[in-house]
Amino acid sequence: MKSKPEPIDRSATLSVGEVAQRSGVPVSTLHFYESKGLITSHRAPSNHRRYARDVLRRVAFIRVAQRVGIALADISDALATLPTSAAPSRADWARLSAGWRAELDERMAQLKKLRDTLDDCIGCGCLSIDRCRLRNPGDKLASQGPGARRLVVIQRADD
Ligand code: FES
Repeated sequence: MKSKPEPIDRSATLSVGEVAQRSGVPVSTLHFYESKGLITSHRAPSNHRRYARDVLRRVAFIRVAQRVGIALADISDALATLPTSAAPSRADWARLSAGWRAELDERMAQLKKLRDTLDDCIGCGCLSIDRCRLRNPGDKLASQGPGARRLVVIQRADD
C-alpha cells in the first residue's frame, strides 16, 4: 500500500540545490537567471541563498518561454510585471498572459506554418526541391526580401 506523501510547508524556503532538483534546471543556470534579475533569493543567516517556493513557477515559465524561442529580455520584461513582495496570484499570471497574447498568437501561427510547409517550398532561395520550380521559379521571391518568404508570417522589427 502506498503511503500518503508528506504535506509540504509552502511557506518554507528552498535552497538552490532544492530548486535545481525540483525544476530540473542546473544550479549554474539558476545563478545566471538570478544575475539577470529573473528570479530572486534572500540570504539566510548562514549566508546561503534561499528561494521562496513560487520561484519554481517562475523557472518553469522561463524554461517554456525560452523553449518556444522567446528572448530572455522579453521574458524578463514580462516577469517584471509580477509582484515581488509576495507570490504572484492567478490574477497576476493572467495579466501577464493577456499582455503576451498577441506575441504568443504570432508564434503559434509561425509554428503552424512551419509544420504545414516543411515538405513544400518555403521560398528560401535554395531551389533544392521539386516544388521550388512551381512555387519559387528562378527565386522570384528574392525580390520580396531576405529569408524564407513563404514561411514569414509577420516580419518582426528585430528580425
Ligand atoms: S525550398 Fe528553398 S527555394 Fe524552395
